[in-house]
Amino acid sequence: MEIRKIGVVGLGAMGAGIAQLCVEAGVETVGREVTAELGERARDRIAHFLTRKVEKGQLGEPERDTAVGRLSLTTDVGDLADCDLVIEAIVEELGPKQELFAELDRLTRPDAVLATNTSAFSVTEIASATTRPERVVGMHFFNPAPLMPLVEIVRAELTADEPFETAYAFGERIGKTPIRCHDTPGFVVNRVLIPLLNDCVRVLDEARVTPEDLDTGLKNGAGWPMGPCTLVDLVGIDVHVHASDALYEKTREPRMAPPPRLVAMRNAGLLGRKSGRGFYRYGAEG
Ligand SMILES: NC(=O)c1ccc[n+]([C@@H]2O[C@H](COP(=O)([O-])OP(=O)(O)OC[C@H]3O[C@@H](n4cnc5c(N)ncnc54)[C@H](O)[C@@H]3O)[C@@H](O)[C@H]2O)c1
Repeated sequence: MEIRKIGVVGLGAMGAGIAQLCVEAGVETVGREVTAELGERARDRIAHFLTRKVEKGQLGEPERDTAVGRLSLTTDVGDLADCDLVIEAIVEELGPKQELFAELDRLTRPDAVLATNTSAFSVTEIASATTRPERVVGMHFFNPAPLMPLVEIVRAELTADEPFETAYAFGERIGKTPIRCHDTPGFVVNRVLIPLLNDCVRVLDEARVTPEDLDTGLKNGAGWPMGPCTLVDLVGIDVHVHASDALYEKTREPRMAPPPRLVAMRNAGLLGRKSGRGFYRYGAEG
């Protein structure tokens, strides 16, 4: 199925990045936020990132203006009625996601593909709020979406082949490297990465190694492009603890549970790069 018009619901950290990829790839995009101000703020952020590309010589000024012009904003879900694909990137809560999918099911064309960017919920459970679970898929982007190449295309229990392959092809069209997987907790990357990072944090205490030495160890002994403490600081300690809790709840595997040291850091407001302090100190505090 050819995607001519796309809807992105929720223009926060992920949705704005996804909308940016779509308009850069030449796709007419409707972005839906809960208020006009939030929508405009997201459009300003997209324009700002594209302007940085112009400054770096990666994009022409007219191309930037055309790209930004492809994004229309709305607070009305009804404006997504003629979209071929809708990608949901709203808050990570099951109730609001299911409510939105039920609404999209009523409003969009029966052949439209409905995708969720959920990290921790079951795509199958979100799809169950619709009468067309065969047209619901997961499109799990990584943060920041414009820069991280991967998108996991997630097949839920009842997803049919055609919408699944449509989502895969669309991922390629907007410049990502898609991979196919089934709907299991953590999908592929988080299922592997979250317990691995939790192991790294436990080793800090077990082996009485410093964060600097642990990072040096994994970079030089395992070829990681960045050390685990640097990575957790970048992701955000709160985001990592939340993702670990969600995976632990689903799998009950002890390695998924957030290490107490990370929970204590989260509770103390040491959230990593964004708060100025995590395993390392950043910015003015550094
Ligand atoms: N941040 C990450 O690292 C990351 C990575 C991959 C996937 N995700 C997933 O992406 C989704 C969004 O995460 P985020 O980090 O962008 O969150 P965010 O809080 O930055 O953005 C969510 C946005 O959705 C808006 N919103 C809420 N309800 C809405 C509705 N009914 N209609 C339209 N807009 C609505 C909010 O106003 C907010 O701007 C979540 O499901 C999250 O699990 C996040």
